[in-house]
Amino acid sequence: MQLLNASGCLDALAAPEVARQLDAFVTKTVTPLPRAGNAPTRIVETGNGMLNSIGLANPGRERFLAESLPRLRELGLPLWVSVGGFSAREYAETCEWLEDVTIELNLSCPNVDEAPESAAEIVAACRAATALPLYAKLSPASWDIGEVARAVEAAGADGLSLVNTMRGLALDERTLEPVLGTSTGGYSGPGLKPIALAAVFTCRRATALPIVGMGGATTGRDALELVAAGASAVALGTILFADPDAPGRIRAELYAELERLGLPSLDAVRGVAHAGGGVLAAR
Ligand SMILES: Cc1cc2nc3c(=O)[nH]c(=O)nc-3n(C[C@H](O)[C@H](O)[C@H](O)COP(=O)(O)O)c2cc1C
Repeated sequence: MQLLNASGCLDALAAPEVARQLDAFVTKTVTPLPRAGNAPTRIVETGNGMLNSIGLANPGRERFLAESLPRLRELGLPLWVSVGGFSAREYAETCEWLEDVTIELNLSCPNVDEAPESAAEIVAACRAATALPLYAKLSPASWDIGEVARAVEAAGADGLSLVNTMRGLALDERTLEPVLGTSTGGYSGPGLKPIALAAVFTCRRATALPIVGMGGATTGRDALELVAAGASAVALGTILFADPDAPGRIRAELYAELERLGLPSLDAVRGVAHAGGGVLAAR
């Protein structure tokens, strides 16, 4: 199974041994200009997951291309670059600069003001700027994620990354005031799993695009369920903060789960949630 990290959840230069357990490494979102990110507190543990309000802290496009990218190439892994911006033009300009990577367009960060253009407009601008594979990373909070998926497919996306975090709030135990410096932040971790599954399931029905499924995966069973809902690859996010060995463990658990279910290979599971009629039960 193709296993990736979720953007912003692994520093491959600080932990190359974790990155090497993956099939590809996804960078933290890169924006045209450097960003210091939001004021602290930027991370808090909460029920069934965590909230973050990092605010896309990153060195900016120029330093990323000159310093980080060459060092990341030395890992010898396929690279995905997560691209962010505040207008379709900003996204497209970064795409123009990239070579020999897959691009993941972060269309959905809850911690910065949304780009004024729609997801489809941003994808169309990037499609015109590059022939590289383009994945559109969507928010699970849109009113009709299937509709957004169809729109980005029509605009030229090659795949979908599902899902980004959901907006959440944690209050201090004593003061009852928001813990995060930005008050609200992005909720990730196990509580996101049913939401991620629903997004993958819905978008599998809505489009023919390959899907990287993510959101609350902490076990091989979680990864298997994302594949059953329609994902062709799985990305790990919050779990990597607690368990750097998660990629190897989750891969092993996934194959153990296949064996437990008496299934010959992962292919038997792909999209099976859509089959209906108890396909697996009938064996
Ligand atoms: C600390 C932190 C930083 C993140 N930074 C980014 C980011 O820069 N770009 C992005 O597209 N998603 C970012 N995400 C969202 C993750 O990539 C992922 O979509 C989300 O956390 C759901 O997966 P999970 O429940 O396995 O963590 C971040 C998540 C966390 C927890």
